Amino acid sequence: MSANGTGRLAGKVALITGGARGQGAEEGRLFAAEGATVVLTDVLDAEGEGAAAGIDNATYRHLDVRSESEWETVVDDVIEANGQLDVLVNNAGVDLVKRLDATTLEEFERVVAINQTGTFLGMRTVARALKKAERPGSIINISSVAGLEGVLGHGAYSGTKFAVTGLTKAAAKEWGRYGIRVNSVHPGLIETPMTADARPIADPDTRAKVERNIPIGRVGQSVDIANMVLFLASDESSYCTGQAFVVDGGIHP
Ligand SMILES: NC(=O)c1ccc[n+]([C@@H]2O[C@H](COP(=O)([O-])OP(=O)(O)OC[C@H]3O[C@@H](n4cnc5c(N)ncnc54)[C@H](O)[C@@H]3O)[C@@H](O)[C@H]2O)c1
Repeated sequence: MSANGTGRLAGKVALITGGARGQGAEEGRLFAAEGATVVLTDVLDAEGEGAAAGIDNATYRHLDVRSESEWETVVDDVIEANGQLDVLVNNAGVDLVKRLDATTLEEFERVVAINQTGTFLGMRTVARALKKAERPGSIINISSVAGLEGVLGHGAYSGTKFAVTGLTKAAAKEWGRYGIRVNSVHPGLIETPMTADARPIADPDTRAKVERNIPIGRVGQSVDIANMVLFLASDESSYCTGQAFVVDGGIHP
């Protein structure tokens, strides 16, 4: 159980995929500050161990979201160690900046395996465990604005993020009766290791131009997303399920 009994996630146990850096690590920090016991998972083990070491009440576990057996082992272990699991954030993801007509089958299938199959496996493993334990829970799937509109040059990525939007809506209808809520979050352009080298972030002139077209006037930071994910993880969102929450500074119509 949490050492902090006062926050918005007091007494809850949360598993975050892709938690070694970027948005996932920020969600881990915020969740722990709000009283959760946090399990960060990733394939970047050194970074993940380091991220967890910097957070009170967080641990790190290796979890490649493509692996059915790793999902089962990690979820079983988390429940055995903590007696419960209340929140899953399916945050792990990879981008592919490539025209569709230049994308190889291998590249396409890698993006699908991580972004789409990984999200399915996480949802399914945790929902089964929650149903078995007869406990409610909140699953938050990190999609993208690219899961609501096609993004030029990110075709494979967009396809997987639309899939995450759809999986979320179908799962919410299936599991609502068990008290399991499922929502998706749709970040716009967020400054993280994923985008660090992209021109709209790295090139000052391009960034200034991009920011002029964002109604809020700046690119997003991980904490902007983490605050939305926190709301969806907490009981404050107890009447929200199957919904797509856009956090993009106002770009998406
Ligand atoms: N940064 C943006 O502008 C942006 C915009 C929209 C959506 N997103 C989404 O937000 C999520 C977080 O991205 P981020 O911006 O923090 O990027 P990031 O690259 O910093 O973090 C992604 C994490 O996922 C991990 N990961 C990759 N493959 C994995 C696998 N097979 N198993 C487990 N973990 C794996 C990476 O190691 C990394 O730690 C992603 O789903 C991404 O698609 C990002």
